[in-house]
Amino acid sequence: MEVKTSLLDNMIGVGDMVLLEPLSEDSFLENLKKRFDHNEIYTYIGSVVISLNPYRSLPIYTPDKVEEYRNRNFYELSPHIYALADEAYRSLRDQDKDQCILITGESGAGKTEASKLVMSYVAAVCGKGQEVNKVKEQLLQSNPVLEAFGNAKTVRNDNSSRFGKYMDIEFDFKGDPLGGVISNYLLEKSRVVKQPRGERNFHIFYQLLSGASDDMLKKLKLERDFSKYNYLSLDSATVSGLDDAANFRTVRNAMQIVGFMEDEMQSVLELVAAVLKLGNLDFKPESRCNGMDESRVKDKNDLKEMCELLGIEQSVLERAFSYRTVEAKMEKVSTTLNVAQAYYARDALAKNLYSRLFSWLVTRINESIRAQAKTRHKVMGVLDIYGFEIFEDNSFEQFIINYCNEKLQQIFIELTLREEQEEYVREGIEWTNIEYFNNAVICDLIENNQNGILAMLDEECLRPGTVTDETFLDKLNTICAEHQHFESRLNKNSKFLNDHSLPHNCFRIQHYAGKVLYRVEGFVDKNNDLLYRDLSQAMYKANHSLIKQLFPEGNPAKVNLKRPPTAGFQFRASVGTLMGNLQTKNPNYIRCIKPNDKKAAHIFTDSLVRHQVRYLGLMENVRVRRAGYAFRQAYEPCLERYKMLCKNTWPHWKGPARQGVEVLMTDLQVPAEEFAYGRSKIFIRNPRTLFFLEEKRKQCLEDLATLIQKIYRGWKCRSHFLLLKKSEIVVAAWYRRYAQQKKYQKIKHSTTVVQSYTRGWQARKLLRELKYQKKCEEAVTTIAAFWHGTQARRELRKLKEEARNKHAVSVIWAGWQGTKARRELRRLKEEARRKHAVAVIWAYWQGLKVRREYRKFFRANAGRKIYNFTIQRIMQKYFLGLKSNLPSMSPIDKSWPARPYSFLEGVHAELRRIFHLWRCKKYRSQFTEEKKAVYEEKLEASELFKDKKALYPSSVSQTFKGDYLEMVKNPKYQKLSSAVDEKILLADVVNKINRANGKSSPRLFLLTKKSVILADQKTGQVKTSLPLPDLSSVSTSTQSDGFFALKLKEGSSSAVKGDFLLSSDHLIEIVTKLHRISSLAADREKLNVDISDEFLVQFKQDKVCVKFIQGSPKNGNGVSCKRKNNRLLEVSVPTSP
Ligand SMILES: Nc1ncnc2c1ncn2[C@@H]1O[C@H](COP(=O)(O)OP(=O)(O)O)[C@@H](O)[C@H]1O
Ligand SMILES: [Mg+2]
Repeated sequence: MEVKTSLLDNMIGVGDMVLLEPLSEDSFLENLKKRFDHNEIYTYIGSVVISLNPYRSLPIYTPDKVEEYRNRNFYELSPHIYALADEAYRSLRDQDKDQCILITGESGAGKTEASKLVMSYVAAVCGKGQEVNKVKEQLLQSNPVLEAFGNAKTVRNDNSSRFGKYMDIEFDFKGDPLGGVISNYLLEKSRVVKQPRGERNFHIFYQLLSGASDDMLKKLKLERDFSKYNYLSLDSATVSGLDDAANFRTVRNAMQIVGFMEDEMQSVLELVAAVLKLGNLDFKPESRCNGMDESRVKDKNDLKEMCELLGIEQSVLERAFSYRTVEAKMEKVSTTLNVAQAYYARDALAKNLYSRLFSWLVTRINESIRAQAKTRHKVMGVLDIYGFEIFEDNSFEQFIINYCNEKLQQIFIELTLREEQEEYVREGIEWTNIEYFNNAVICDLIENNQNGILAMLDEECLRPGTVTDETFLDKLNTICAEHQHFESRLNKNSKFLNDHSLPHNCFRIQHYAGKVLYRVEGFVDKNNDLLYRDLSQAMYKANHSLIKQLFPEGNPAKVNLKRPPTAGFQFRASVGTLMGNLQTKNPNYIRCIKPNDKKAAHIFTDSLVRHQVRYLGLMENVRVRRAGYAFRQAYEPCLERYKMLCKNTWPHWKGPARQGVEVLMTDLQVPAEEFAYGRSKIFIRNPRTLFFLEEKRKQCLEDLATLIQKIYRGWKCRSHFLLLKKSEIVVAAWYRRYAQQKKYQKIKHSTTVVQSYTRGWQARKLLRELKYQKKCEEAVTTIAAFWHGTQARRELRKLKEEARNKHAVSVIWAGWQGTKARRELRRLKEEARRKHAVAVIWAYWQGLKVRREYRKFFRANAGRKIYNFTIQRIMQKYFLGLKSNLPSMSPIDKSWPARPYSFLEGVHAELRRIFHLWRCKKYRSQFTEEKKAVYEEKLEASELFKDKKALYPSSVSQTFKGDYLEMVKNPKYQKLSSAVDEKILLADVVNKINRANGKSSPRLFLLTKKSVILADQKTGQVKTSLPLPDLSSVSTSTQSDGFFALKLKEGSSSAVKGDFLLSSDHLIEIVTKLHRISSLAADREKLNVDISDEFLVQFKQDKVCVKFIQGSPKNGNGVSCKRKNNRLLEVSVPTSP
């Protein structure tokens, strides 16, 4: 729901001066000040907006604010310039009424800012779209261009507009902007050549020098240093808060957006540069033969550069500064210029050049922004024109400006009154005449065609003969003497004769805003605004299209002898057009007020504001507005606002709003003379009545608030109570459920317990029964077993008895048989003995017989021969027998036939030896080289260990394999084997005995011809490599253990690590191989092999004794090794079986 608000809500002071009670200048100022102190810079007088310059940025121009004021009624929100802009725009769009926004106030009061705010508001709320946005952008960007060329820093305002500006913005029927037309009024061109103290020349000069690139400056033949240019005042060349360089970029950008071509921009800047150069021209006198002084350009460099810039022939311009041609009728007369005249001519040219350039810019901008469509446009005019000026020293310019303001005041009064009157008529309310000051009489004093001041000035200027400012003042003194607003010391009106505040060369005018003293000096010149024709012709000859355009009168083809219209005349004409234009439009006023002279925020100088309030005629304005009825309001919002004051209208009124208001007023007993009913509005005569209504409303609102509060509190309590009640039921229900659940679970649990007890008891009973039954069964079985046992034993006994009987029979039989056999044996032996004895006796007998028979045949040598023969026979038989009984060819075959005769003992043994040697030779001759080496090794092992070490016998049957790890085949050791470049003679896993504690850890043991290598078993990484020459000896025990110590030569490189104590299953092989390698090497002494149960080893620094003892059986079968102390390592070896 949209909340209806009103200007009357939260007012600080009063938002509309019409409501001021009591109305006086003091209360007016007090109200302004109060609002200003609360940052309320806008206040209304009816529909007029008073704006106080805050001199700081306030957060009241945001897009949110634009939205807030958009499409709202004027009195709905607190006063704001946006409210006025919105009202004007909507009235233009919806009611098809052309609008003008008149912004007045003195210099620095905020007029230009106000005009920009209005334009930006309208731009924000009007239609959108690509084309429309482009138009908007061009309209808005025309401002920076005109400000750069037409604004300057003055003592009152750092960005003071030095020209008047009126801009018509044209809209189509939908309210979208189509384009615009700008009119400019009277640029203050004297500023180009001279600036008052503390002020600057026009911004563009400073912007160009600070912002242009070096390149551009070079092209324009300029230097960056301000001090190089006479026309630039130096005392305030830089202004704080004004970034000239950045602004230059903004201006160029704006020119581009507005539609200036690149070469146009260049031409404009060339002209600006030319003006600066012009200012640097100096002149010197040169005596002529006629005794007159003639001026000459002093330093021609600047002149040369300027001519180059503008494409002017230097001699032509030079001549124009020395001579002047006067044409009268058909003659041309050339006169010389003295130095002063030359300076005058120079400055006149500079001023003209600049002001014409400015006008050209306006024309050029208009070309760009002019609406294209031919259809009728709706127009909103925005007038930003210099305000009333009262300086210490007022001249022609102030006179013109004040005249313009006088005219504006005139139409202000006229239009305000007219509008007021029209409203009364519209609403059917009776109009009562209002007394007010009409300034038409002052306007007449100035602009009257016959005897107005401007007309007389023109007359003086055109008059032949000597014309001076004094002659002009004389004329005024005679003609205006009677005018009540004209004051002069020398007029016939005697009352000023002794007025010393009025100097002789001045006249004073009582403007509507106060009295202003004008010094006549310069009036004639400024009105004439003469530029010597030679100069304009020189300009026309320039080879520069823009310059040529600016000085059309220099065209010799169009020589016009008629004087150009005077400045005053031109201005009066343009003001006339402007007024005519404004009168056709619906006016909206913004009256700007400057709160202090210091351009400072928060300062409100009473006297200064009072002065402005006075000359802006604001009190007059309020009075006019309040003449009949101070306040008026449409019936609907009025009823809406006050309906709570009457029971009949509260809370809803069904009938028409007007009737509602009538009922309300009657009910409130407001006196009838205090208000009147219009057609659509109620008119309230006194602000008092309005405040009475407001007060009542405030009270009523409080009561209403209490009522609303009461009802709300009741409602809140009740709903809270209902909520509690509902919650209580929910909680109770949940609790009951929970309690029942608990109870049920308890019962369930108890039942289970009772049940389990009963079941347990039953089960135990059953178990007991079953156990008893089982026992019975077992008893039966046992009894049966015993019974069967008894029976079986009985049977067994019976069988045994039977067997014993059978055995006894056999034994007795065997005994009988044995006895029989022994008897038989004895008898056989007896018989054999007898037979043998018989044979022996027979043999002896035979021998005896033979010897007795043959004794006669052999006598002396027979015995020898028989002996030899017998021996021969025996030897023959022996050898033949031996031959057939030879043992096998195996060298280990120990058998040998028994010796047949004791006398052959030696031979038999010798033969056995020879045979064995022969057999061995035979055996050896079958050996291959490898096998031979193996046996040699075995032989060496036996030489080393046989009968010395208990381990030896068990090693004899083992072959020396050498490579137990299969180094080449096993991929695990490939890396290691490739790391060893020698041929590996032995590879095995040995245990390395830790020197500190006697524990062993496995190591790979590799032996090559040159070294012993110990490597990690898992990774195969080489841990130690001992060159063989470093080994001095190997020690082992006499027992069956595999321990051996590698002792290193003292002083060798390996000796630092100390001796190695290792153990291996292949000890015999290892030591043999080590020994063998050392004995084969010619250059080395043999390796000692010590076999003893106690030897010393060098562990680092210590010499440790390794002692082998016979271990007790309880130590098990393994060899154990223990470090007993610093000097002793004990190895216990189990007793070998
Ligand atoms: N509404 C405003 N908010 C903030 N500063 C303002 C406002 N109006 C004016 N000013 C300040 O005052 C200075 C003068 O305003 P300006 O509109 O140029 O004065 P004028 O055109 O009346 O000579 C501005 O440059 C600006 O700093
Ligand atoms: Mg301005």
